[in-house]
Order: sequence, then structure tokens, then C-alpha cells
Amino acid sequence: MSITFEGYPELTREEIDKALTFCKEQILHVLPEFTEKFQQAYSVDNFYPPVENDDWTCGFWTGEIWLAYEYCGDERLKKAGEVQVKSFLNRIDKKIVVDHHDMGFLYSPSCVAAYKLTGNTEGREAALKAADQLVSRYQPVGEFIQAWGPMNAPENYRLIIDCLLNLPLLYWASEETGEQKYRDIAEKHIHTAVANVIREDYSTWHTFFFDPKTGAPDHGATCQGYRDGSAWARGQAWGVYGMALAYKYTGRKEYIELFRRVTEYFLEHLPKDLIPYWDLEFTDGDDQPRDSSSASIAACGMLEMSKYLEPEEARHYQTIASRLMKAVYDNCAVKDMAVSNGLVLHSTYSNHSPYNTCNHYGVDECNIWGDYFYMEALTRMSKDWQLYW
Ligand code: GLY
Repeated sequence: MSITFEGYPELTREEIDKALTFCKEQILHVLPEFTEKFQQAYSVDNFYPPVENDDWTCGFWTGEIWLAYEYCGDERLKKAGEVQVKSFLNRIDKKIVVDHHDMGFLYSPSCVAAYKLTGNTEGREAALKAADQLVSRYQPVGEFIQAWGPMNAPENYRLIIDCLLNLPLLYWASEETGEQKYRDIAEKHIHTAVANVIREDYSTWHTFFFDPKTGAPDHGATCQGYRDGSAWARGQAWGVYGMALAYKYTGRKEYIELFRRVTEYFLEHLPKDLIPYWDLEFTDGDDQPRDSSSASIAACGMLEMSKYLEPEEARHYQTIASRLMKAVYDNCAVKDMAVSNGLVLHSTYSNHSPYNTCNHYGVDECNIWGDYFYMEALTRMSKDWQLYW
């Protein structure tokens, strides 16, 4: 518990309410444009264009609608959420761009949320079908869920750290159906992921390859980080939240210590204003973009983990989460609809470097998951929130 950011202000109750009020007003304001359509993964000059439901990120927009509905109970939000759930059911029925592992990102904040909040049976049906789709990505040789691309090809024989957030869908499916298979696959994947993506210094690999013939761990590699061996900020943040969820669902005590270490690495590498650079290699003085979404994701992980810790340590992580969210609120939150149709500025989706393999887009923009996790963190700080995950 060495890092505390002592002296840095926390978000006040008044600011939390003000922030959530703006979020729901912004969402209601843009809802007519984004009910049949979805917000793109990233904004362009801070404005999201409308897109079809065909990216891995579309569930976050629906998740924002449900969080706003939870906050204010406005029936327009519920109706729009229901339209979007139908779209997700159609998507999984027709298998529209679902040949990847991001079924949790897509179906937890949209369809599981709809079912948990309103008993929406189409949401339940869609999410169970998505869970089946996710288990179809399981590779018994190596015991992990393959992230991307056609199954079995050596260049795709890998997991990625982000997948830890896709697994709650499987735990939910086990609960709903009574079938153990979903939980078993989730647990195997968690075990393999944790054993391989966390490095000795508790930084993390974005992706990790396995030998398709033997399943033996092969090598780590980045896709969206600056270079192999650096710590991509959002990957580390997925690790923070992922370890909290891994502990919640497995109850394995060793994951608590791993949560502490992975979180400490993230916090130790933040700049003075607490808004993460897109890769934790960079710090104060570097002319590099930020990824504000990583701060919100990590804050959600700390707020989740604090539920399972002794009071003093729980308070420690709640305080840090509050300080991170204060930094996001002060430095990045949209407070004027003329500036953006999103919620949080200064995120980075995919920043090409000389050493990584990703395309270049969504740099220093709003990102849809940055908006979603900002709202989730605020909601967690405002009440005892029942997870969509
Ligand atoms: N899961 C992909 C990303 O965080 O950009």
C-alpha cells in the first residue's frame, strides 16, 4: 500500500452527482441519433459518428444507456435499451462479426444488464447465445480462449489480457443455466492467463502465444502497446479489473496479492496529474497521448476489489479510485455538449508505434469504453452497484 497520492483531492459527493447528471443529460440529448445506431468505438474530433452494431465495442454504448436509466429512471432510456437488446439478439443469431472473444464486452453491459435490471428475456437469450459463442473459442490445447482470428492458426494461437473482462459472461451463464461447462472454461482461461501475462515485475503482456501442438507457453507480444516488454496502460488496467473479477468469481486467495501487485505497478507509473499515458513507459514531460479510459477501468477494478478486503485496505483502494476519478473529472470529463457528444476526452484506442502491430486511430479522442467505465466508476461511488459483469 505504498502509493496513496496523498494530498490529491477526492471526488466529492456533489461532483459525483454533477458528473452523473451531465452523463444522463448528454445521453438523453444524443439518444434519438443513437437508438437504432450505436456510437463508434472512438470519436472523430471529439464527436462520435453513428455506426451499425458490428464492432466489439457496441455493448458499451448500450451499457451507458442502462447506467443512465439506473441513475434517473427515465423511460426513454429503457425503451432505447430495449431496441438495442433486439439488435444484439439479431447480431448473435445472424453471427454478425462475432468470431472473436469479445462476447463479454458486447453482451454483459447490454444484454445481461437489461436482464438483471428489467427482466428482459431477449437480453437473457442473446447473452446465453453469446456465452456459447465464447466457449466455442476455447482451445483445450493450452487451455485458453483464443482472442482473435480463425481458430488454430499459429499466428492467432494466443490469448490477450483484455479477455479477463469477457469471462463474467461465462459465470453468469453457469448461474443462469446450472451448467458447469461455462465456469470450467472461464477458470481454465483465468489460470492460463494469470500464469503467463503477468511478468516478474508485475507489468503485463498484452498478448501471449502458445504452441498449437503442445499448448506450451511460447512468448508474449504487444499489439496496442508501445513495444514488446513495455506495459500498455489499458492492458495493465484490464489486469487490475481482471484480477478483481478473477478473485470475485474464483475466490482464490492468491489473486488478491496479484491484484495488489498489478495495481501497484499501474499506480507507480502514473504521471503527476494521474491521467495515464497510453503506455506506462511514458511519463511527465513525454510528448505522448494519454489514455484516460485506463484510469476509469483501474478505478472500477479497485472499487470492486475493495468489497473483499479488510476495512483499512478497502478504504485505501477506494481513496485512490476516488482520486483517479477526480483527475478524470477535472482534466478529461466533457462538461459542455458543444465540445463533444461523448463523456470523456483524452483517451487513446490504437496508437501506432515503430514497434507495435496496430493501426492508428482514436488517439486523443473519446473512446466508448472510456465513457462507459467513467459512468460505471461514478455509479459505483454513488451506491452499492450490482454488477453487469
Ligand atoms: N480490448 C481492446 C482495447 O482495449 O483496445
